[in-house]
Amino acid sequence: MSDKHIAVAGATGVVGRQMLKVLEERDFPIASIKLLASERSKGVKLPFKGESLEVEVLGEDSFKGVDIALFSAGGGTSKHYAPHAARAGCVVVDNSSAWRMDPEVPLVVPEVNPDAIQDHKGIIANPNCSTIQMVVVLKPIHDAARIQRVVVSTYQAVSGAGSAALNEMDAQTRSVLDGDPPKCTIFPVPIAFNCIPQIPHQNAFESNGYSTEELKMVNETKKIIGDASIRVTATTVRVPVHTGHSESVNIETQNKLTAAEARALLEKAPGVVIKDDPEKDVFPTALDAAGNHDTWVGRIREDISHPSALDMWIVSDNLLKGAAWNAVQIAELL
Ligand code: A2P
Repeated sequence: MSDKHIAVAGATGVVGRQMLKVLEERDFPIASIKLLASERSKGVKLPFKGESLEVEVLGEDSFKGVDIALFSAGGGTSKHYAPHAARAGCVVVDNSSAWRMDPEVPLVVPEVNPDAIQDHKGIIANPNCSTIQMVVVLKPIHDAARIQRVVVSTYQAVSGAGSAALNEMDAQTRSVLDGDPPKCTIFPVPIAFNCIPQIPHQNAFESNGYSTEELKMVNETKKIIGDASIRVTATTVRVPVHTGHSESVNIETQNKLTAAEARALLEKAPGVVIKDDPEKDVFPTALDAAGNHDTWVGRIREDISHPSALDMWIVSDNLLKGAAWNAVQIAELL
């Protein structure tokens, strides 16, 4: 592979910084790298491979000569700038939700549907963080036993809402421990010492009562696995965790799979690590997942209320497999 000219749009954000870290760790073949963010970050310097690189302001002309642009600067920014980048001959890997359900845009999880990238027309979408870690586990089960229905509840980390949200949780935690009232500017109610069943934290709910995050899990799962017949329902919840999304997932299959059979399948699944030994109180948590690329599965058991269903607990780093690592995997495929 020849060295690539790379741009990272949203380089100063929580996901953007992880993208730089993963590119560095993977020793991605880079001819040049451009760090892009808003006016607010003009002149900010970020470390990359022992150098200190100055952030540039993202503009319509930022992508001349760039081969691959990793975007994580919000949906509105992607909607506006990704087509400019594509027209300049650059391939955009976009972490926002702006393009995911566009039929012209592949939605890719490299362990699940790597071949989909071949159909790109300049933009490839990185799926929703909660969806990525779930489909990595669902795919081998679907291939073996045909999934009919999935019921998922999420326990999502605050870093998924960006750096300002993380700062708010930390400040609220300190306030509460000091006996002061927590101040809310990002979240509608305190996130410290609380759980919030509303993602995103504003304008979340559709007329059917589902949040947009929940509908992303429903629709993106079908698109990535390539089977519109899989029925999915989701409840997505923000919890006071810095990094690592956890999910309780119930999976109904056409053909019965025992827990042992599911465990054997998942042991061979790429990107999946099993941590599951109830006799020794062994199960994965967000702290296990934070900082590494894998998706962790535990609490695998047969659903006692259904003849052909499994329950399990799926955990992954929302900034890595849920965002930066999946995006860099797509760039590696390119
Ligand atoms: P900036 O730091 O200059 O605001 P997070 O998810 O952590 O909040 O980060 C969002 C990222 O998206 C940041 O890098 C932010 O840059 C960038 N961003 C947000 N809006 C824009 C915009 N209009 N143009 C360019 N970058 C943007």
